[in-house]
Amino acid sequence: MVKLSALFGAVALLPALVSAYALPEACSGTCTNSHDPSIIRRSDGTYFRFSTGGKIAIHTAPSLTGPWTYKGALLPSGSSINLAGNKDLWAPDVAQIGSAFYVYYSVSTFGVQNSAIGVARSTSMDVGTWTDLGSTGVTSSTGMAYNAIDGNLVNDNGNYFLTFGSFWNGLQRVRVTPTQKNGDVYQVAFDSSDPAMEGPYVFKYGSYYFLFFSKGQCCGYDQSKPASGKEYRIMACRSTSAVGPFVDKAGKSCRSGGGTLVLPSHDWVYGPGGQGVYQDPTYGPVLYYHYVDTRIGYADGQKKFGWNKINFSSGWPVV
Ligand SMILES: *[C@@H]1O[C@H](CO)[C@@H](O)[C@H](O)[C@H]1NC(C)=O
Repeated sequence: MVKLSALFGAVALLPALVSAYALPEACSGTCTNSHDPSIIRRSDGTYFRFSTGGKIAIHTAPSLTGPWTYKGALLPSGSSINLAGNKDLWAPDVAQIGSAFYVYYSVSTFGVQNSAIGVARSTSMDVGTWTDLGSTGVTSSTGMAYNAIDGNLVNDNGNYFLTFGSFWNGLQRVRVTPTQKNGDVYQVAFDSSDPAMEGPYVFKYGSYYFLFFSKGQCCGYDQSKPASGKEYRIMACRSTSAVGPFVDKAGKSCRSGGGTLVLPSHDWVYGPGGQGVYQDPTYGPVLYYHYVDTRIGYADGQKKFGWNKINFSSGWPVV
């Protein structure tokens, strides 16, 4: 009996010891300089990582785990878009269409709605090969119902949509050609009681399109930390259509505050977000993101690149 109760005691302790969320997988080389990462693997096996800052920093690695090496800027002279912020490009999103690669990027300034989503093109992704195509025509200005940043391209059997948005009325989507706006803007997600949501990423798995997004305060944790639970966290909704309507696990509309938590702060991981999803040939679907390693520091420049395999067996992403 003594042994049995000791065993029960040990089992009862487990939930406290084992986090519900996996720790980030290993990363070697340059794992910082990875704000709002976007990942793709070239057919020669080289992984490319694009990130906010440095006129879109490009890092490459032979594997998702690294070692990551800084290669240079996507657009060393900034964007041709004539807007404040055109030398400080944000939130890259890489996509392959046929034999070409496209990187969507944002031109804006913090907390301002004068924004545009631009796009650049290359056939190899190497530094020095990118041509800036300028604005996609997905733009916004003060007073409009959305903010045109954080674009993500989804290729739905040759129909292209950009899902985008930050803060103002949540997340939106618009048909594109894929390099030019080609339709009206529709809202796909909004939470009136907690409107800080951004960084959408649409990923198809099985018969569902999953809309991943980041909710909460993204940045500046070393200056001012939000209330616990209000920092960046990764959420998801899903739909049988690339353009929605999206609902969460409880069936609540993503346009009415719905959203299922995928990855919040846990263990020494704080404020994970700026995420994307990649169908990796080795690891299967992976969720990648930036996060604060609380053992290192809370400054934006200290944020690290993280990724985890996604288990979709329940019909919802679990990491
Ligand atoms: C995925 O999650 C299910 C529970 O939903 C679990 O039974 C299964 O073992 C998990 N798969 C892996 C590879 O971890």
